[in-house]
This record gives sequence, C-alpha cells and structure tokens, in this order.
Amino acid sequence: GLATSAAQAQGNYPQRPITMIVPFAAGGPTDVIARIVGDNMSRTLGQQIVVENVAGAGGTTGITRGAQAQPDGYTIMMGHMGTHGAAPALYPNLKYDPSKDFAPIGLAAGTPILIVAKKDFPAKDLKGFVEYVQKNGDKVNMAHAGVGSVSHSTGIFFTSVIKAKPTMVAYRGTGPALNDLMGNTVDFMTDQIVNVAPQVQGGNIKAFAIATATRSPALPDVPTTKEAGLDGYEVSAWNAVFAPKGTPPEIVAKLNEALVKALSDENTKKRLLDLGGVIPSTAEQTPASLQKLVESEVARWTPVLKAAGATAE
Ligand code: MLT
Repeated sequence: GLATSAAQAQGNYPQRPITMIVPFAAGGPTDVIARIVGDNMSRTLGQQIVVENVAGAGGTTGITRGAQAQPDGYTIMMGHMGTHGAAPALYPNLKYDPSKDFAPIGLAAGTPILIVAKKDFPAKDLKGFVEYVQKNGDKVNMAHAGVGSVSHSTGIFFTSVIKAKPTMVAYRGTGPALNDLMGNTVDFMTDQIVNVAPQVQGGNIKAFAIATATRSPALPDVPTTKEAGLDGYEVSAWNAVFAPKGTPPEIVAKLNEALVKALSDENTKKRLLDLGGVIPSTAEQTPASLQKLVESEVARWTPVLKAAGATAE
C-alpha cells in the first residue's frame, strides 16, 4: 500500500541529487561551509549535493524558499545565526519561524566574528579604529550582508557598543562585500572568520580584533577584542543544516549521520580549521542540540537588536 511504498522510498533515500540552498551569494562564508561539508556528505550519501545560491533580504529569501519546499529530503539548506537567530527580531512579517518550521539536521561550524577594515583604513589598532569610527559618523561605511544577516546583526551590536552611527551598505553576502573591502570602496565590517581569514593572512585587509575569548589558531596574530581594550563585544556565529518541517525522521537521521561523518573526516576538518572554523563537539552535532541552539539564539538576539534600535528596511 501507500504507507509501504513511502517507507521504501525513505529506505532507499537518496535516489537523486539533493539541493542545498545557500541563502547568500557564492564565495561567502555560508557558501564556503556548505561546499566543504556538502562535498563530504555527498560521498557518504552516494548522491550529489548541489548548492543553490538564493540570496536576498539578509538570507531570509532563501530560507523561506527552503522552509516551503517539499519535506522529502531533496531540498535542505544552510542556515545560520542570522537567518535562525537574528531575523525574527528584524522582520515582523517573516514567513518562517526558526524554531517551528524546520527539521534541524545539525550544526556544521562555529564562526568567530572579526572586526576587519580596508587595507588603507587610517588606524593601526582597534583603539584607533573605534575612535575614528566614533569621530567620523556617517562618513564611515559599514558593509553587511542584508538586514538580519550575521554581519548586519553583529555590526549593529558593535556600533551600539561603541556608540557610533556609520553608513550601512547592504550586499547579497559578505563574499561580494569582501571584494569591495579589498577594493577599498567600503571601510569595514564585522564578518565570519571563514570568509576573511585568507585575506587577513595575505595582508589584503586589516583585522583589528577577533570577538572571542581566545585567539584563533588560524590567525594567531589577531588580538581578541578584550586584549585590544574593548569590553562588551564578544560574539560568535554558526552555520547549520536544516530541512523543512515534516521531513521523515529516517531521512533526518541519514542526513545527520552524513553530517557527523563529514565533521570527523580529517580533510573536511582541516579545510574548516584552516579558515578558522570551529568544529562542533559531538554533543553539539545532534538535531536536538541544534533545536535548542536556535531557540536560545532567538532569545539572545531579540533584546540586543531591539535595544540597538535596529529595524528592517
Ligand atoms: C554569507 O554567506 O554571505 C553570510 O553568511 C553573510 C552574513 O550573514 O553576514
């Protein structure tokens, strides 16, 4: 009967390529993590994982599409601290609820935030940078990946901590924002380490601080915000795999197994670690742990963003 053939279809999953929606431009942090992790997962699953970049509205366009896709395991998505943590506070009409409309698969990587600026920025350290941004107001441009994205919410948080009001410049992802930072046409951003590490290492942009309690092994010369004299700005992001709500538990389990396997693969780990990504602990790799993280992140970001007076455009 029907039930039997549905169960068989799940047992044979996957039988065709899987689409992974990346809700930002190609080449940026979410895209990079999706491709690194997806590469290994597709080998385990025996089917290709095809990344589809659906950028717009700080990642909420792509995640809305993913939430509304058939829950059959053939459309999954890479969400993050922005799409599943900050966005609800900024979009009163958001078409998905991060904690209700998904079948969480698992955390893919932690991504510490760096304060980075164009190479020619007239400051030599974080203190000088903060003073300059405070003094020059809207003459300074802050790049971000759209309202509700990681760079936007961590940037709003940063400017509220230092009490500055730079001009905000929106991009379809921090991949393209980084290009303009390297081209010296935008001044600074707060971005995930996996995007900026190679350009910091290459000396193409300046990194004033990393907003974590300890330095990153990928960028050992970059001081923490605290070391650099800024209190009250510690923030880290994360990227995680989600399926639409209603995805059968057997399929969720298969996808989670493939993700867990990817995160224990030496080559996959090295690719993430070289970019400064943080590999989640085994306990953090479960769907239940991701569900809890989403709920706690929405609770954490809502008051921060409301207090900073941030609203959607
Ligand atoms: C991206 O992939 O462009 C991002 O994760 C951007 C962001 O949220 O800041």
